[in-house]
Amino acid sequence: MSAQTPIEKIVETPGNLVVHWENGEISKYPYLYLRDNCPSPSTIHSNGQKLIETSCINAAISAQNSELRNGTEVLINWDTEDHTSLFSAQWLFDHRLSKAAIAERRQQHMAHEPVELWNATLNQHLPVGDYGAISVSDEALCSWLANVSRYGFAVLRNVPAELGMVSKVVELFGYVRETNYGKLFDVKTTVNPNNLAFTSLGLSAHTDNPYRNPTPTLQLLHCLQSSAVGGNSVVVDGFKVIADLKAYSPQMFRLLSTTPVTFRFENQDQWIERTDTIIGLDVFGEVNAIRFNNRSVQAFEVDEDNMPAFYAAYQQLAKMIDDERYFVQFKMEATDLFIVDNERVMHGRSAYDGSAGERFLQGTYADRDGLLSKLCVLKRKVISQLV
Ligand code: OGA
Ligand code: ZN
Repeated sequence: MSAQTPIEKIVETPGNLVVHWENGEISKYPYLYLRDNCPSPSTIHSNGQKLIETSCINAAISAQNSELRNGTEVLINWDTEDHTSLFSAQWLFDHRLSKAAIAERRQQHMAHEPVELWNATLNQHLPVGDYGAISVSDEALCSWLANVSRYGFAVLRNVPAELGMVSKVVELFGYVRETNYGKLFDVKTTVNPNNLAFTSLGLSAHTDNPYRNPTPTLQLLHCLQSSAVGGNSVVVDGFKVIADLKAYSPQMFRLLSTTPVTFRFENQDQWIERTDTIIGLDVFGEVNAIRFNNRSVQAFEVDEDNMPAFYAAYQQLAKMIDDERYFVQFKMEATDLFIVDNERVMHGRSAYDGSAGERFLQGTYADRDGLLSKLCVLKRKVISQLV
């Protein structure tokens, strides 16, 4: 909520109510927009959900009359309905409709949950939490989740090396996302693995399950045994790599954010496929996802004239992802866990030798919206306890 200035006067014009603020700013509000957002209990339920159908409002609705009360409230009697709306000046201020006001609100929204891009320097200050602490303290949980939101990655230590604990961690902030791998899955060397993760081979940094739509937005891996030689973990901030790729070659960025590629997982029981771009953009044109998994990507469907340029872009991205300057590296010991935003941070591991020791991880998926919701609620709670 921004600081609000009192209203000096209101003026009815055809189509709009015009508010003149005491600081000289002038805001226009289309009548249809005001009627649609009337705060009266017949228009909006106390739970915040709208009761009226927007389609039923007369599109040409206008004010029969309007009145400014004490510079702090605006009352409107409507012409096509027997209804009165009362708006606070604060609400009107918070909903000013100039392009600048809308852009300012978006900036404020983004600053609320800041995203920090990182490279190998994050090795010096790994975002780490303690399981004992986050399971009993709202403050500790809040700060661990805030790290996940900020860096797309966080480590958790002292998670008892017991089966199923990875799901218990998810239950602290959200819901397990079940897939064909189960509610959780064992990451260890198996006979006839349906995924190379279940071998001792190294895995270059990747996002999981890009063949799924929707792709799980969080992945957790919990280490129960770690006596094998090798199997070091690596995580890479895809958003940082993409930002650097865009600066290096806007053309490569354009190709990777507009060319559809297909990812697929296929065996006797499953056929899971998704076609999308490697770099995902949101409605504002900002990067909101990376989908990168060289194991499950299919032969590119790019026309013969443009294939060389697409390969150049793909190889450039892949080489950057494989560049140690972006690597955060660590060896997971039993009781360690890490979480990644699976549409932002890629994870991988070096090969290991399981002949003289064991390596056993359990993994699961969850979703980011639940985590962000929990973070938001905890922040409110922690702040209210401080005041
Ligand atoms: C996976 C995976 C990494 C590891 O299971 O998806 O990438 O460290 N595992 O075994
Ligand atoms: Zn993986």
